[in-house]
Amino acid sequence: METPHYDHLTPQDYEKVYEPAEDTFLLLDAIEDNLEYLKSIQPGICVEIGSGSGLVITALSQQFPNAVCLSTDINQWACNTTKRTALRNQASVDPIRTNLLDNIRDKLVDVLLFNPPYVVTTDDELNHKERNFDSEKTDNNLIYSWAGGVDGRRVIDALIDKLDSILSPNGVLYLLVLKENNLSDIISKFACKQFIAVIFKERRIPGEHLFILKVIRF
Ligand SMILES: C[S@@+](CC[C@H](N)C(=O)[O-])C[C@H]1O[C@@H](n2cnc3c(N)ncnc32)[C@H](O)[C@@H]1O
Repeated sequence: METPHYDHLTPQDYEKVYEPAEDTFLLLDAIEDNLEYLKSIQPGICVEIGSGSGLVITALSQQFPNAVCLSTDINQWACNTTKRTALRNQASVDPIRTNLLDNIRDKLVDVLLFNPPYVVTTDDELNHKERNFDSEKTDNNLIYSWAGGVDGRRVIDALIDKLDSILSPNGVLYLLVLKENNLSDIISKFACKQFIAVIFKERRIPGEHLFILKVIRF
């Protein structure tokens, strides 16, 4: 699987949108490693939450040109950049500016991808309580790309709570997490919601131990 082109993105883009990094490439590698499985479930609707530059959902769209590929992000610049990346690679991706998958109909998503803001910070740093996704704040502040609040879990936990209403009966989620996010607790939390989460891939990079969890229904 070839990495989509992203040479159209400039340093000015990266002032507003998360630049593809090791976590991005780990998620891409996970898709590549699990392509046979993904083909076997014949996905009709694929979504990446928090698409940033759009590299990952573009790669998935290239593999499944007949699937509807959507992306969401709370950052309008990321939505625009995702569209540009898809067009640069002759792929079809429709970005939506929203929180997680708000406003998308229930239990429709066959393949869900998320490289969330996972870095452990204080809630103050994340400004969690005051976060308003309709405001211009999230467009102009890269902190929302990486700051995860306490245990780096604020956005991850919000997704776990909503997952049942998002995934189709045979749907699968690939979620990037960090060791400090407390893997065993995340896996237990999925189990409480009737999902099996397994470590599908892991990679150590300087300063971070990253994992991809593959999550399906019991
Ligand atoms: C770590 S970056 C990953 C970007 C891209 N997917 C990648 O792998 O390079 C996290 C992205 O999630 C977006 N994001 C953060 N919180 C979100 C939320 N509640 N709903 C949707 N997107 C969110 C950020 O704006 C950012 O683009």
